[in-house]
Amino acid sequence: MLDSTTNLRDGLPKGIHRIRALPDPQLALLWDSIHVGAGQKEQLLSQAVLNFTLRAQVPRTVLPLHGVILLVGPPGTGKTSLALGLADRVARSFKSNGFRLVEVDPHQLANSALGKTQRAVSDLFSEALRSVAGSAPTVVLLDEVETLAVDRSRLSMDANPIDVHRATDAVLVQLDLLAESNPNLLFVATSNFPQALDEAFTSRCDLVIEVPLPDIEGCRRILGDCVLGLGQTYPTIGRLVGAEGFDAAVAACVGLDGRAIRKAVGNALASSPETAMDPGKVTLADIHGAAEAARKARLAAGGKA
Ligand SMILES: Nc1ncnc2c1ncn2[C@@H]1O[C@H](COP(=O)(O)OP(=O)(O)OP(=O)(O)O)[C@@H](O)[C@H]1O
Ligand SMILES: [Mg+2]
Repeated sequence: MLDSTTNLRDGLPKGIHRIRALPDPQLALLWDSIHVGAGQKEQLLSQAVLNFTLRAQVPRTVLPLHGVILLVGPPGTGKTSLALGLADRVARSFKSNGFRLVEVDPHQLANSALGKTQRAVSDLFSEALRSVAGSAPTVVLLDEVETLAVDRSRLSMDANPIDVHRATDAVLVQLDLLAESNPNLLFVATSNFPQALDEAFTSRCDLVIEVPLPDIEGCRRILGDCVLGLGQTYPTIGRLVGAEGFDAAVAACVGLDGRAIRKAVGNALASSPETAMDPGKVTLADIHGAAEAARKARLAAGGKA
């Protein structure tokens, strides 16, 4: 029977967007497609692996791990992709079947009728996640977690219903309970707004990784990856990597995030109706121009590029 905690769209409990079996080749591709600073992926994977090796063995009085990793950084820097890819990687590390990924949609909870957010959050953490995970090792993606773990010290009681405060309280209480009872759970949370997160939430994270805008080497790898990927379909585009003008196009990308760099290439492919009709005609000058335009647009919008 469906009740108020059931997601009517697909029969999943309210707040759960999707459940996948791991490993998943699509997620492996995502992980490989994201270029971040040296050592960041290794650090993420190591922390995630430790979650599943150590937590069931060592008392929390010795090492109070909560099983929460947080990725923070500007929009479009690859946080969600890394979180999804990490789930796949950690499952592969153990070479055992049975790992799962549960994707939570915090907006489904926060959009609950006024006064019901706290209840929805409690139900998700205390019942739905427990029953979905069972005893199987499970990674839970909490994307845009600032919706759930709102910084209570910044909330005015006038503008925000007490329910929002209580929803954050509920998240914290439930995280403590799950940390105690479910060492086979790992939460991977992402946020664009670390300053909007409640400090008590951040303090429960076992690792906080900052994913910044790519530096020039990062831009080179992202642009190169994108251009080489297009080269699979349009061989002339693949030959642009390392050609004269490539370095200048890379330099024009500095200040853009990874998503914006890939979108600038997309804009370059649409720089004229002729190129759009035959994308293999795109030039490095087109890509350079599109990256410059993206940076200007960002500046005009008050961004930092
Ligand atoms: N560091 C990166 N390396 C390569 N590609 C990247 C990188 N960052 C972003 N991208 C590209 O941008 C797309 C969007 O990335 P993703 O959604 O993971 O970013 P995000 O940080 O979660 O953004 P948001 O904060 O807006 O949710 C990815 O699919 C990828 O193609
Ligand atoms: Mg994201």
